Parts: sequence; structure tokens; C-alpha cells
Amino acid sequence: MRELDEVAALRAALAAQERQAAEKERQLERYAADLRETFKQERARSQQLRRSYMATVRALSNAVEARDAYTGKHAERVAAYGLEIARAGGLTLADDPQTEFGFLLHDIGKVAIPDAILFKPEPLSAHERSLMERHPLIGYEILADIDFLGEAKVVVRHHHERWDGAGYPDRLAGEDIPLAARVFSVADTLDALTTTRPYRQGMELGRAREIIEAQAGTQFDPQVVAHFAAIPGETLEGIRREHT
Ligand SMILES: [Fe+2]
Repeated sequence: MRELDEVAALRAALAAQERQAAEKERQLERYAADLRETFKQERARSQQLRRSYMATVRALSNAVEARDAYTGKHAERVAAYGLEIARAGGLTLADDPQTEFGFLLHDIGKVAIPDAILFKPEPLSAHERSLMERHPLIGYEILADIDFLGEAKVVVRHHHERWDGAGYPDRLAGEDIPLAARVFSVADTLDALTTTRPYRQGMELGRAREIIEAQAGTQFDPQVVAHFAAIPGETLEGIRREHT
């Protein structure tokens, strides 16, 4: 009789434990559902924030471009070329939105350059050139307090440095120049060479590539030029058509 009582007691204890376990499981499921919901909301918020950042950057970039009817969508094209080069080299900066922000905003300092210099078809005088060459620093200062731009500001400041140290404003050389700025300068030159201006016809893509490849090690980082050289011509033509 006692044994039967013990079995009944054990069964009761087991059933209680099972009920507790089931309750715990339901509780855990509720936590997991709450977490999933929070995560979803956070992701939506961060996507929204990212879209606002991008819209702000594009508005700023368009404000600079609106002045110059000839370069058209220069900033968008250069950004697309630059990201393509970064991807071709497997560089992680290709996935960093701050890289694209920097590419889009590179010439924002030109807002402070007078039209008479910016649009002068003849060669610039020494004084005009020195004013013109202030645009990377002016741009850097304009953006200095915008935290979300992060590394983008470095691209703006250093987009006219040269691998051999003969660029401006800081005469940085080699790997002292931030990688994103080294990538950018190849993209910028490609666009400058292939875009038609009032005073000269844009050149063929193939010719522009030869010129850039000849400047590896002087104007450009040879490694970046190697990444650039690996991009199929159709890809670059596609970018040009898409952003005209
Ligand atoms: Fe520039």
C-alpha cells in the first residue's frame, strides 16, 4: 500500500515538474517573440536613419552639382566607379556607407570657389590655382561637425593627394593617404577624362584606362590601379550610361 502511495506521489511530483517546465517554455517563447519584435523595430529604425543620412548627403551633393551644368551627375558617377574599384579589390570599405558619402561629397568645398575661377576655360593663374586648391580643406571644414559622416570627411580632405606626395592639401604620400581617397582619385580621373566639357571632348574609355594605368606609382596607388584594371570595360560603360 505504501509503495502505491509512493508511486502516486512521484507521479504527482513529475506532473508538477512537467507543468513548470511547460510554463517556463511558454515564458521563454514570449521572451523570444519580444526580442524578435524589438530587433525588427530597431532594424526598421536604423534603415530609416540610413535612408535619411543618404538623402541628406545626396541633397548636399546635388547643391554643389547644380552650379555646374556640364559635369551633370559627376558625383554619382564617381561614387559608382569608386565603389566598383573597391569591390574589384575586395576592399571592405566598399560596404561602408561613409565611403560612398565621402565620394558623393568630395567637392563640396567648391561652394566657396568663385564662378570666375571654377568655370574659367583658360588655364588658371598661380593665385587662382591656389584658391582652387583650397577646396578639399574648405570641404573638410564644412563637414567637420557632422558626426555620422565619419571617414567620409577624410576622403573629402585627401581626394587630391598623389601617391608620389606631389598632391594637396597635405602632400601625403603612399599609404599615408587614406585608402578610400586613393581609390577615389582613380575614379575621379576616369570621370574627368571621359566626360565632355565645353572646351574639350571626353575621350574613349580605353584611352582613359591607358592614361590611368601609366600613372600607377606616380599619381595613383599601383595596387588600386591593378583593381581598376581588372574591371571589365562593359561594367564601366554601364555605370557611365546609368548616371548620365
Ligand atoms: Fe576636387
